[in-house]
Amino acid sequence: MKKNNIITLTDDFIMHTYKRIPVVITRGKGIYLWDVNGKKYMDFLGARGAANTGYSNQDVIKAITAQAKKLILVTNDFYTKPQAELAQLLVKNSFADQVFFCNSGAEANEGAIKLSRLYSYKKYGQGRYVVVSAGNSFHGRTYGALSATAQKKYQTGFGPMVPGFRYVDFNDMDAMNAALGDDVCAVILEPVQGEGGVYPVSQDYIRFVREQTQGKDIILIMDEVQVGLGRTGRLFAYENYGISPDIVTIAKSIAGGMPMGAILALKKIAKFFDYGTHGTTFGGSPIASAAGIAAVKYIIGRKLPDKAKKLGIIALKRLLSLKQKYADKIKDIRGVGLVIGIEFYDNSLASQVFDECLKAGLIVNVTNGNIVRFLPPLVITENELNKGMDIFENSLKRITVRPHL
Ligand SMILES: Cc1ncc(COP(=O)(O)O)c(C=O)c1O
Repeated sequence: MKKNNIITLTDDFIMHTYKRIPVVITRGKGIYLWDVNGKKYMDFLGARGAANTGYSNQDVIKAITAQAKKLILVTNDFYTKPQAELAQLLVKNSFADQVFFCNSGAEANEGAIKLSRLYSYKKYGQGRYVVVSAGNSFHGRTYGALSATAQKKYQTGFGPMVPGFRYVDFNDMDAMNAALGDDVCAVILEPVQGEGGVYPVSQDYIRFVREQTQGKDIILIMDEVQVGLGRTGRLFAYENYGISPDIVTIAKSIAGGMPMGAILALKKIAKFFDYGTHGTTFGGSPIASAAGIAAVKYIIGRKLPDKAKKLGIIALKRLLSLKQKYADKIKDIRGVGLVIGIEFYDNSLASQVFDECLKAGLIVNVTNGNIVRFLPPLVITENELNKGMDIFENSLKRITVRPHL
């Protein structure tokens, strides 16, 4: 089928919830994607953080192929080895004691919110159900996750939201302090606000939040759906801050591209998710779990977190010098490891950069209008990173500052 036919079919028969790039992708390998016409792209979007182990990772393919021949799915009415092994692997390498597997980031956050409310209800009775979340956050599109997402643009038209959510400014200790009343059961925060435009949590803030929540037996949920599993320079992003949360949610890169999410929690909380309280048909399926074991082992075995840290420093250094050189265009550079945001003075500059990069074979992402985001697969080499940055730098030469009317 020709490119234009595929685009027409998609536009005719699929709801228009995405602003799709007019490129039809047919295959991927490592950090590269190829379109239907054979054009090769370097991908700094990295499936929005879901491609940490790279496209067509051989370990993941082998695991999926072998498992598919044995058993793709059986319900959670039974025990399976891949699920048990993946849970053990995650627990061994984190703060957590137990895991609940689901299918996406939103679903992981949904479950984490339910679990937090249940913990509070069982321990303290009714009335302690408020979940505090941060302005500019993104936690997913389902109702609980959307209600935690403190951004009007995602909620407009879908009201009313789920009751019992309270929003505070991100990285504002006074606001958090004021919000933590007797009715609060949990705080949910992203270590780096990814969709919001790459805003890292500050060390002082997260330590303050941890201290306050611990003192009040309020659950601290870290939403590591986008930046977990190596991207920030540690396997889990919370490790960068010297704190230990109560619940961590992950998804995206956990299973090498297979749909999967997980809630990681301490036993004292996890124990309240007992028989009949929560469930899923597909969560932790043998095939996703087998892929998960391969992906997580690959991330740990190949030391991808260390690599993300090293390459992140190299990228930031170069970007900071570009900021000086193109001071009329670039407003700010932010990042931790290999989640990097380049904030432009306006949306037009970011969208021109996107177009120029795409033409030259580099896929970047624009988030929040004026922020170009890099989330490359963590299998990227230093050489590849530099090549991508060359394309990005060339795009800066071509874009023009348009007068504001
Ligand atoms: C921090 C964060 N939480 C939750 C989600 C939702 O994940 P999913 O799209 O898998 O539901 C995302 C997706 O971008 C995210 O970045």
